[in-house]
Amino acid sequence: MILVTGGAGFIGGNFVLDWLANPQAEGLINLDKLTYAGNLDTLKSLKDDPRHLFIHGDIGDRVLVKRLLEEHRPRAIINFAAESHVDRSIHGPSDFVQTNIVGTFNLLESVREYWNALAEPSKSQFRFHHVSTDEVYGSLGPHDPAFTETHTYEPNSPYSASKAASDHLVRAWFHTYGLPVLTTNCSNNYGPYHFPEKLIPLVILNALNGKPLPIYGDGQQIRDWLFVGDHCSAIREVLAKGKLGETYNIGGWNEKANLDVVKTICQILDELKPRADNKAYIEQITFVKDRPGHDRRYAIDASKVERELGWRPNETFETGIRKTVQWYLDNPIWVEGVASGSYRDWLHKQYD
Ligand code: NAD
Ligand code: TYD
Repeated sequence: MILVTGGAGFIGGNFVLDWLANPQAEGLINLDKLTYAGNLDTLKSLKDDPRHLFIHGDIGDRVLVKRLLEEHRPRAIINFAAESHVDRSIHGPSDFVQTNIVGTFNLLESVREYWNALAEPSKSQFRFHHVSTDEVYGSLGPHDPAFTETHTYEPNSPYSASKAASDHLVRAWFHTYGLPVLTTNCSNNYGPYHFPEKLIPLVILNALNGKPLPIYGDGQQIRDWLFVGDHCSAIREVLAKGKLGETYNIGGWNEKANLDVVKTICQILDELKPRADNKAYIEQITFVKDRPGHDRRYAIDASKVERELGWRPNETFETGIRKTVQWYLDNPIWVEGVASGSYRDWLHKQYD
């Protein structure tokens, strides 16, 4: 078995679905606290799959994690669980420190105890894979080279600072205790099952609902977009072949300014689901107050993972964004499920 944390969230959920889509794949324990970002509807199709065991709980709960590890004896752990939204970290950083730093620390300690007691060959085959972000490297100038794995850590938001701290803990548990760890730092993901507080799903759904499409500041901030299915395949590759203690940057080679991303979504919607009044969705674009401390540019140099492990993304931004828009059009029931009470409270807090 493998143990996945945060597998009811956006990337973890996609990873669980992709993993179990392979009929030969081993079983998977999915430990998730079900915060506002956790959604069991994403995992509905696994209802009758005996290889999927969902456990509602916190990565920081040592008693629970110890019991899970002893009962199920996973050969690997993939840690997706985190508080992940920069804007929420600005409103309230405490949960970010608690889950991303303290939670990761507690998880590492539970895993270290389990791993220490393993017999060979299980002990040397065991892996702890930590999923992190390019945001730990800080912000790039317009002509700076993309982030490599040796770029200095310069996190600027409470979110990225808490993820940076978790990366350092994972690194230290490798160097000090020999825990067999792997870390991946990836760029902005997009795709199916993305909670609509992040730019791409928010814009798709606001457009369809006739609401403003909020662009922070001048909309010229650049992100390097990675289709979530590509991210999942990269994680499988690193888990299988990555070198212990190493970090791998995962990116889509797709740098885009936010305004261009939003315009592209509008054009696809004009084609797939034209407005009733036949006007262009682009008319809904609204410039709003910028995010405090807003990082200007992220870009990932993903050449190490290609050179050493042979991984490259399959999707370009143009193919991935079209699939994503189509997915939101095809899945109104999932969308209705997430767009409930607490989500509406967030929209008022952030945009009113
Ligand atoms: P998400 O917010 O959609 O999902 C996080 C999941 O973790 C949720 O299901 C939530 O219920 C769960 N969770 C939160 N706290 C927990 C706890 N204490 N114990 C157990 N479960 C808990 O996040 P995501 O976008 O799927 O991101 C997954 C990972 O990838 C995160 O570590 C994030 O930092 C990293 N990452 C995300 C992106 C991105 O673009 N989304 C980019 C780079 C890195
Ligand atoms: P987001 O999806 O929150 O990801 P991150 O902050 O982790 O990069 O935001 C992506 C970019 O889009 C970021 O530069 C902020 C910007 N943005 C907007 O312009 N408007 C919005 O309403 C949101 C949510 C984000």
